Amino acid sequence: MHILGIETSCDETSAAVSKKRNILSNITINQLIHSKYGGVVPEIASREHLLLISKVVDKAIIDAKISIDKIDAIAVTNGPGLKGALIVGVNFAKGLSIALDIPIIPINHMEGHLFSNFIGLDEIKYPFLSMLVSGGHTQIWLIESYQNYKLCSTTIDDAAGEAFDKGARMLGLGYPGGPEIEKLALDGKKEKYKFPIAKIKNDKDNFSFSGVKTSLFYLLKKIDSNTYNNNKHHIAASYQEAILDALIEKLIFVSKKINVYDIVISGGVTANKRFRKKIDKTNKNDLYKIKFPDIKYSTDNAAMIAVVGYLKYKESITSDLSCSATARYKI
Ligand code: KG4
Ligand code: ZN
Repeated sequence: MHILGIETSCDETSAAVSKKRNILSNITINQLIHSKYGGVVPEIASREHLLLISKVVDKAIIDAKISIDKIDAIAVTNGPGLKGALIVGVNFAKGLSIALDIPIIPINHMEGHLFSNFIGLDEIKYPFLSMLVSGGHTQIWLIESYQNYKLCSTTIDDAAGEAFDKGARMLGLGYPGGPEIEKLALDGKKEKYKFPIAKIKNDKDNFSFSGVKTSLFYLLKKIDSNTYNNNKHHIAASYQEAILDALIEKLIFVSKKINVYDIVISGGVTANKRFRKKIDKTNKNDLYKIKFPDIKYSTDNAAMIAVVGYLKYKESITSDLSCSATARYKI
């Protein structure tokens, strides 16, 4: 069974071909044009997707070494995300669905992240906890079975990826901010500056990242440019550490409370190597085990969309041409 996955929810144009849970090809083009604007410009993202989508799909089919008539269904992200960007992927999928006379499987982008640890690996046994740490979301879900999810924790303000992006902008770095802060932090001392790890009164389950961001703002306001230039790598390292500590502390707190051993983490922030190293360290215990997807499936990609497409196709969950792009779309 072959599924073509298509992902265009934000600034990555991606297509993948899967055979069951194995990925035969995964082509992702990052739209670098946005970096000069300091963030994703929705209109530009849509136009770039239009230019790239057919090339990316062609390349995914070629790399998979199958002929296009072997594709059984097209799994496409139909939300949440940028409306115009989503429309490009959904309409491309509809055209292909008519041409090949195969069904469409609309996929929630976040569901793709939640299951990105299933790619090519043995199925993780239910129940498990899945933490999604991306530019728009910081959430912990209890996955009791396929399609049976319970939200355990979310952010009350910014997402962790957003804290990286906004922090990077304050530090005069490029977009996306996470990789820029990670790079700058490499030579920095994480103990040099103290950033707060939010503790929300009467709410132990949820995340908050606005405090750490505000604290960076006031630090940068206080120091002169000389101090800043000599210390920006220390600032980046300390800021990164505070975000990662907040994520790990909360995840462990929730996992102990719910008493679930298997935990998977996905989303763009899981591309951070310091994060992976800290998790490896905390994994040395008998109470829980945290897993990451392969690093190439951390940020947005169509492979995770194809794999959720496979899970749905198995359950005969497909759609006709009436499916549409939905910018705000809950799981
Ligand atoms: O999952 P993703 O690619 O797209 C969304 O669905 O949002 O996540 C993008 C987010 C951005 O905020 C980006 O700064 C962050 O993931 N990110 C990172 C790293 N790579 C990407 N954050 C920290 N360290 C990284 N290496
Ligand atoms: Zn994403």
